[in-house]
Amino acid sequence: MKAIVAVDLNWGIGYKGNLLKRISPDMKRFKEITINKVVVMGRKTFESLPKKEPLKDRVNIVLSKSGSINHEKVIVCRSLNQLFNELLKYNTDNVFLMGGESVYELLLPYCTEAYVTKIKNTYTADKYFVNLDENDSWKLIDKSDLQIYDDVEFYYTKYAK
Ligand SMILES: NC(=O)c1ccc[n+]([C@@H]2O[C@H](COP(=O)([O-])OP(=O)(O)OC[C@H]3O[C@@H](n4cnc5c(N)ncnc54)[C@H](OP(=O)(O)O)[C@@H]3O)[C@@H](O)[C@H]2O)c1
Repeated sequence: MKAIVAVDLNWGIGYKGNLLKRISPDMKRFKEITINKVVVMGRKTFESLPKKEPLKDRVNIVLSKSGSINHEKVIVCRSLNQLFNELLKYNTDNVFLMGGESVYELLLPYCTEAYVTKIKNTYTADKYFVNLDENDSWKLIDKSDLQIYDDVEFYYTKYAK
């Protein structure tokens, strides 16, 4: 399993149920990386998707203990056990963990790689990702040139465990 996330300089990822910043080339890249693959997310992240619709051309798996999600294209897992059973159907390299905070925290121990878009800014945040730079299990293995879009500077980075 691989994590995919956009963080600010404090490793913040969200505020009041939303992303800190929408960067359209990063969204496009997210789509390119995850297209035709499996995405795993928490119920709150699912509900933050445009029109609360699953992502197109991907297998959408949502973790929720009790939420009522009735969409024919969403696979709802009520526990980690159920999730792991479901994931047996897929090649682990094709499974992307896409948030939010609680689900990243829960499943990062099962990830081998993390695609981290690092935004060179700080925002007010109430949700965070683990600081991989301060975690001995993780190593930065790739970093793009500086990207600039709409006055926002950011890097695409990749970490491996
Ligand atoms: N920057 C990024 O790349 C990025 C990516 C994704 C999300 N985000 C941000 O992250 C924030 C959302 O994060 P969050 O932590 O509040 O919510 P979340 O992780 O998206 O969803 C939390 C929900 O997941 C379900 N869940 C968690 N653990 C579970 C388990 N063991 N078994 C079954 N269900 C489980 C529960 O749903 P029920 O309550 O239904 O039981 C829980 O309330 C938002 O601000 C969002 O914009 C940022």
